[in-house]
Amino acid sequence: MTGIICGTGSYAPSYTMDNNDIAKLVETSDEWIQERTGVVRRHIIQGETTVSMACEAAKRALDNAEVTPEEIDLILVSTISSNVILPCAACEVQKELGAMNATCFDLSAACTGFVLAYNTAAAYLAGGIYKTALIIGSESLSNLTNWKDRGTCILFGDGAGAAVLKAEDQKFYLPVTHSDGLKGVALTCKSRHDCNGLTSEIAAESLVDEAHFMQMDGQAVFKFAVKKVPEVIREALKRNKMTQEEIDWYILHQANRRIVEAVAKRLEEPIEKFPMNLQEYGNTSSASIPILLDEMNRTGKLKAGQKIMMAGFGAGLTWGATIIEWHS
Ligand code: ACO
Repeated sequence: MTGIICGTGSYAPSYTMDNNDIAKLVETSDEWIQERTGVVRRHIIQGETTVSMACEAAKRALDNAEVTPEEIDLILVSTISSNVILPCAACEVQKELGAMNATCFDLSAACTGFVLAYNTAAAYLAGGIYKTALIIGSESLSNLTNWKDRGTCILFGDGAGAAVLKAEDQKFYLPVTHSDGLKGVALTCKSRHDCNGLTSEIAAESLVDEAHFMQMDGQAVFKFAVKKVPEVIREALKRNKMTQEEIDWYILHQANRRIVEAVAKRLEEPIEKFPMNLQEYGNTSSASIPILLDEMNRTGKLKAGQKIMMAGFGAGLTWGATIIEWHS
């Protein structure tokens, strides 16, 4: 028994900032950002919130899955940037959807969050506790971004992605996940300063304290990712007695094109097996994997029976890989 994905959805704000817009805020250039990260533009909230984007992505996923809100037993929202502390974002989504039979809670594990949300939901479904789950990654990272720090503000964006899982009598692929709190200092955010979707120019003027924003040792995170992601992918394959040849797609957290390319190289896999959309969204933390999954689903790239390796990595530090078989 496992949780098969039977529908996906995503949402990104219509307002975008390209690299030239960023270059008006900090000393950088489109050329530098594209070369070092692969990012071209990012979507930024203008009135949307983490909860509103989560709701929109969820509605699209339910529609895609042909599942009604009443059928949902579990709603999990993975986020580090919710606009609400209490009640949790998942309960806000429940209210908006009218999914009154669902148990709801949030999960905070930064860019590994969606992988952990999938694992959590799949374990509940495999254990027979629930039959249908809605998992969402939603982030308003623009609220946590220091628009005066060129080491970070070039990277992040806002958006949400969702998937509907149903319990089915199919193979349960065992995930592999790790955490290392000793290295957490590489990427921190001590408290939050909510910019409420103000344009970045206004947000830049309203800075009050650096502790309100993400602070990152970019090189440390980069080195961690290119070492640990191939390792955890190999561990997941070994744990499930599978080989790389059996994997059709590697859907990695979309942090940086160079990280994805380095992982492909270390695994000696063709880059074509590593779809990317970070050029359009930047790093949307726990939303990046479900947004990419939804794009691939809606453009018909995913075929029934294909095996997909999802891998996330980020603050904590946390990282993990999980295999799914596509059924939609
Ligand atoms: N524009 C122009 N120059 C810049 C910029 C910029 N935006 N940022 C840094 N520089 C300069 C630096 O000052 C430095 O100049 P110097 O040599 O004169 O001192 C030079 O460029 C090189 O700086 P590095 O920090 O070494 O640049 P690097 O190649 O490492 O790229 C980056 C920086 C893009 C942040 C990279 O380290 C990276 O992508 N790291 C991974 C970050 C990541 O993915 N984080 C997300 C984790 S997921 C999560 O949990 C949210």
